[in-house]
Amino acid sequence: MISDEALLKKAIEAQTRSYSPYSKFKVGAALLSKSGQIFLGTNIENASYGLALCAERTAIFKAVSEGEHEFEKMAVVCACEEGCLPCGACRQVIAEFAPELYMILGNGTDSFEVTSLDKLLPNAFLPKHLD
Ligand code: THU
Repeated sequence: MISDEALLKKAIEAQTRSYSPYSKFKVGAALLSKSGQIFLGTNIENASYGLALCAERTAIFKAVSEGEHEFEKMAVVCACEEGCLPCGACRQVIAEFAPELYMILGNGTDSFEVTSLDKLLPNAFLPKHLD
């Protein structure tokens, strides 16, 4: 299995492709599926500001579009000292597929924090709640 450090490097690669001319805030994500594939995501902004898509959701949507629904871990990177904390919308979208996903939060340096999605989004509203 790919190491946390290696997945973080992939997130940094994705971050270089950020399309963020409005916020200038570059975010990168790398999502490892259980089948061993890596899906990269970056934030993609729009002249109609509200249409921006976060890096984490880009990665999830790419993976699901390719038929992957099971995930091992995700690395996210941005210029936040404490490591990139996914926004609430991204936490909810990740929870749909991986409510306990192992999360690696980087800030572009060698240091990073490790946490899990259930810590970032406790008591999430999940598909099972619709039953
Ligand atoms: N952004 C992400 O890509 N992920 C997050 O979890 C937080 C915010 C992006 C959206 C927007 O392009 C920029 O960061 C500033 O909010």
